[in-house]
Order: sequence, then C-alpha cells, then structure tokens
Amino acid sequence: MRGRFTPKGLTEVSEMQTRGVRGAVDLRSDTVTRPSPEMRRAMMAAEVGDDVYGEDPTVNRLQARAAALFEREAALFVPTGTMANQIAVHLHSRPGQEVVCEARSHLFNLEMGMAAAFSGCQLRPVEAPLGRLSWALVEPALRLQDPYNKARTGLVVLENTHNLAGGVVTPPAACLHLCDELHRRSVPAHLDGARIFNAATALNLPVTQLAAPFDSLMFCLSKGLGAPVGSILLGSAEFIHRARIVRKMLGGGMRQAGVLAAAGLVALEHAPARLAQDHALARCLAEGLAEIAGVTVALDQVATNIVVCDVGRTELDAAAVVAKLAERNILASALDARRIRFVTHCDVNQAQCDEALFAMRAVIERQ
Ligand SMILES: Cc1ncc(COP(=O)(O)O)c(C=O)c1O
Repeated sequence: MRGRFTPKGLTEVSEMQTRGVRGAVDLRSDTVTRPSPEMRRAMMAAEVGDDVYGEDPTVNRLQARAAALFEREAALFVPTGTMANQIAVHLHSRPGQEVVCEARSHLFNLEMGMAAAFSGCQLRPVEAPLGRLSWALVEPALRLQDPYNKARTGLVVLENTHNLAGGVVTPPAACLHLCDELHRRSVPAHLDGARIFNAATALNLPVTQLAAPFDSLMFCLSKGLGAPVGSILLGSAEFIHRARIVRKMLGGGMRQAGVLAAAGLVALEHAPARLAQDHALARCLAEGLAEIAGVTVALDQVATNIVVCDVGRTELDAAAVVAKLAERNILASALDARRIRFVTHCDVNQAQCDEALFAMRAVIERQ
C-alpha cells in the first residue's frame, strides 16, 4: 500500500513511518524520510498555481517564509540542493574561472561535474582538516594576481554541516573571517547549507548568524527537515531574479509545485526544533560503535546527525560490513574501503539505533 495515497491511508502511513525500504532500519542518509501525515495533509490541501508565472501561492508563501527566516531579500524554491548549488556557481562565476571548495565537498564529489558542464568552471579543491574551510586554507588557493597564466577565482563555496567529513560544523567566526577576507578581494562566497539547521542546532545559534556572511546560500528541505522534495536558494532580490532564469534553463520550472512547497512549509515550521533528537541518537550510535572492537569513531567530531566509523582494523572492508548489515535489515553507506556512514533522521528512533548497534556488533565480532 505504501505510495498509494488516500485520506484514509494517513494512519497507515504514520504506522509505517519509522520503517524504510522493505521494513529495514534505514540509516543511509537523512534523504530517505517519508512525508509525515501532517505534510501529506498539507500537500493535499495546498492551493496551487503555475509557478513559472510566479502564481503558485504556496510556493510564494514558502519562499517568503524562508527569506524572512534567513533575513534575505528573496528566496527561490528549487527541486534539489544540487540545482541550487549549480545555479549559484553559474551566477557568481564566469566560464574559465575557478571555484574553490573543500576536497570532500558535495560540490566537488557528487554534483556530476556540472560546474564544468554547465558553467565552464573548474573546481579547485582544498583539503581542510575535518572539512572546515578557513581563510588560512583558502588564501593560498586563490588566484587573483596573474591574469595571463591563471584562471581567476570566481567563487568560494563552504559546506556547513560537512556531509562526507561526518556532519562536521564550521563555527560562525571562521565563516565570518573567510567571507570578510574574500569580500575585501571582491570574491563572492556561497554556503552549501544543505544541513544548516543541523549546524545551527549543534551550535545553539540562529541560522541567520551562520548564513549572514555569505552572498548566497542554499538549504535542503528534503534532508534533516524531512520534506519529500525541495531546496531553497537565498540571496539578494537581483540574485534570485537571475536565479529564476537559470532554474528555468535547467528545467527546474515546476508549475503547480505548491503540492511540494506545502510539505516544505510544514518542515520549516516544525522540523528544526526536533533536530536535537537526531543529534542525540547519532551520539548514542557513535558511542555504541566506538565500543565495538576494531571499530573506530572520532567521538569528538560527532556533533550532528552523521556518524562515520572506520572498520579498517577489522577483517572486513566497509562494503562487506554494509552488505552483512543489509542482510540483517540495517542499511548504512560505505564511503570508501574503510569508512561507513550512519545518518539519523526523523524516521528512526532509539530502538532502531539499538538494533543497528546490535547488528553491527554481531557482524564485526562473529564475522
Ligand atoms: C552537503 C550537500 N549539499 C548538496 C546536496 C545535494 O542535494 P540534492 O540531493 O537535493 O541534490 C547534498 C545531498 O546529499 C548534500 O549532502
């Protein structure tokens, strides 16, 4: 019945809410969540119009709400975080320029080479300890002085929280210092804030404080906030006007998108307040994993909803561990030969994390 929607089906959906693919405990990502019954009700009731004409009242409401929350002039609802980042790259840079980003960033690793394919830019990855970019690390990577030999830096992108580094948070002072120095050199900065609400929760700060130094930012509704689809790009009114045009170029004009935006509004209203629970679950998971012989977790780095553990001291590689966990109905992601990622979200609870730990212990210890 999953996926077949009837108003009566709402309770049924809610009972299924905490079980993912084939009843598994799904810790692969916070993108796997199902819309809550409240989201589904809002989606069903959503007032809609053609958003390419700017006439979808629910999309307009979501954009206005996001802009107000982040104290920005304007916001744009886009289908994915990838599209939001790529629109930002396209608008801030020119073909033949470089975009500086962190070596493990989503932009560099998981966006299909689109900075080159769509915007004619090359990415200059900078390795940062824990994925935290700083001015000290970025400055040597800038190319602003030698127009006859070097592709000029057009943009710097910072990811907060940093996904592949393990949900690591970059503190506001580092962001502010980096952006100030960039702005003094007329280089814009974009924030990949797919999980900026997780960062804000971990630091107990408003999202505005983390986002303020950046020229533009995006955040995802479809990750920790639990909405089924959508991200928001924010910036000046002029930037968002141009972003709207690029969104259309990319095929992101979604017409009656209010059915999706309605879920986004519910997510924005209620989800940030419950992210601390995801973080507490991740901490439990991390502490449990650290107790398993041969498994290493940098506990001091677990600050949000992502836990990365290293199984390099066991007999199994990460892919083998993940496959054996899947046989026990626990889903996680192998990041490379040694590292496994577990992500908590609104559709997993303490009992399921305990189940995951039990399975992990059984897989590693019995092998
Ligand atoms: C840090 C970060 N940025 C961007 C994205 C892209 O979002 P989407 O999957 O909606 O394209 C992701 C997705 O996981 C992400 O983790």
